[in-house]
Order: sequence, then C-alpha cells, then structure tokens
Amino acid sequence: MAPHNVVRVKSGIPGLDDLIQGGFPQGTTVLVTGPTGTGKTTFGAQFVYKGAELYNEPGVIVTLEERVSDLRKEMRSFGWDFQKYEDEGKIALIDGVSSVAGLPSEERFVLEEGLNVEGFLRYIYRVIKAINVKRVLIDSVPSIAIRLREEKNIRELLLRLNTILLEMGVTTILTTEAEDPKRDKLSRYGVEEFIARGVILLDLVEKDIELKRYILIRKMRETKHPMKKYPFEITEEGIVVYPSGEIY
Ligand SMILES: Nc1ncnc2c1ncn2[C@@H]1O[C@H](COP(=O)(O)OP(=O)(O)OP(=O)(O)O)[C@@H](O)[C@H]1O
Ligand SMILES: [Mg+2]
Repeated sequence: MAPHNVVRVKSGIPGLDDLIQGGFPQGTTVLVTGPTGTGKTTFGAQFVYKGAELYNEPGVIVTLEERVSDLRKEMRSFGWDFQKYEDEGKIALIDGVSSVAGLPSEERFVLEEGLNVEGFLRYIYRVIKAINVKRVLIDSVPSIAIRLREEKNIRELLLRLNTILLEMGVTTILTTEAEDPKRDKLSRYGVEEFIARGVILLDLVEKDIELKRYILIRKMRETKHPMKKYPFEITEEGIVVYPSGEIY
C-alpha cells in the first residue's frame, strides 16, 4: 500500500507512473542515465512539457548540450510546442550553450560565459523563483562540469544544486551518461547516483537483429517499484512505457 503522506508528481510518460506508485515523490531529484541516443533528453523534456500542458505546472529546462532553438525544433517532431508555453510564461528554456560556443544568443534566459559555481546556482535559483517552477530538467550533468571547467568540484556542485532544488520543493530530472551501465558504474562521475533520490536507466538490448529499448527503475526512495526491465518506445508522441510488456 502506498504511504499516504507521499505526494506524487505525474511523470507525463504513459505507462511509467504505474511502475512507481503513481508518480515521482514530489520534491525529489531523479537521475536519468544511459548510453547515447537512449531517450534521456526526450524523457526530461516530456516531463517538463506535459507538466505545463496537462497539470498546469510551470517548468524550466537548462540545456547545456544543444542550443535552445535546436531543442524546440526537435521537440516539435513529437508535436510539442514549447514556444506556446514559453510565451505564456509556463516554461523557461535556459540557454547554457551559446556563450560557451562563443555564439550570440537571442534567447531570453542565457547563462553567461565564465560563470562559476555560485553564479550558475544563483541564476537557476532566480528563474525557478520568477515563474514559480515545479518541474526542472538539467540536461546534462557532464556538460555542467565541462561548462564550469571545475570538473573536480562536480561532487560539491551537485550536492549544493541538489540542496537548493530540494529546499525549493521542485521535482528535478538530471540526465547523465553511462556508456555501459551493465558493466560499469551507473553514471559518468560515479557520484550522480548518490545525490539523486531516484535513478532510472534507459538502455538498449539486442534482440535478433534489432535493438530494443528498455527502462529500469534502479532506485526510487519512498516508492515500492519493480526491479525489472520494461520495454519502451519513442513514438511520434514521445516516450511510452509498456508495464505489462516483456523485453526478452
Ligand atoms: N519524432 C520522433 N519519433 C520517434 N523517435 C524519435 C523522434 N525523434 C527522435 N526519436 C528517437 O529518439 C532518439 C534521441 O533521443 P534523445 O535525444 O532523447 O536521446 P539522448 O539519450 O538524450 O541522446 P544523447 O546521448 O545524444 O543526448 C533518436 O535517436 C531517435 O531514435
Ligand atoms: Mg540528450
């Protein structure tokens, strides 16, 4: 039975909430990890987009891997019109790429060049406050480390970031990479999973001559969840998980 005091935040991903007692515990930080091209960005963007579209919950995406304009364009292929919710003040997309690449940005929310840990945290804090954000995506942890040129301090940064996010009560998806999650550690730095209260792995398995996508809830505090791999697809409407499917 679900503990009665845990408030659940619906993921916006069909099929997923059935595996985690109705949604993510409100205020948690969930790490989404896996090899390249497994759907981590889509997962996080869907969480934020559906928050605005279905649940009237404002969200913010800090994009450190691709330009905001490219993200908007890619997400349109799922029928998601980010611009609409940006115009309504329900979603903010923070450009964390242009300044590092030495490009001018036409975005409203931009992380300046040469930000240190303090500046980075302060900027995110301000945007979260300004539009009363409930859902956050930070894509990705390895690129924060590169951006701040303080890779060795990544653990401290993540701890502080996580403390701020928990204090603000927002529910956050952090993405990271894991080349071979079966053999290696679950995340790039091996520290991300310790600060996260939930860890979700997106990966591929070879079936005959085809690669099949699967999702594994590796950890989710305050939640009874299966420790089983479930098939999922990236469809024209985004990620869909099949809780009664089998991957083998
Ligand atoms: N409109 C679409 N319909 C169906 N599948 C799509 C669509 N757009 C993208 N995909 C699939 O999603 C994949 C990209 O997913 P995504 O960018 O979320 O992965 P990622 O794990 O963030 O990758 P990266 O390591 O590059 O950051 C594509 O390789 C493709 O297989
Ligand atoms: Mg990505």
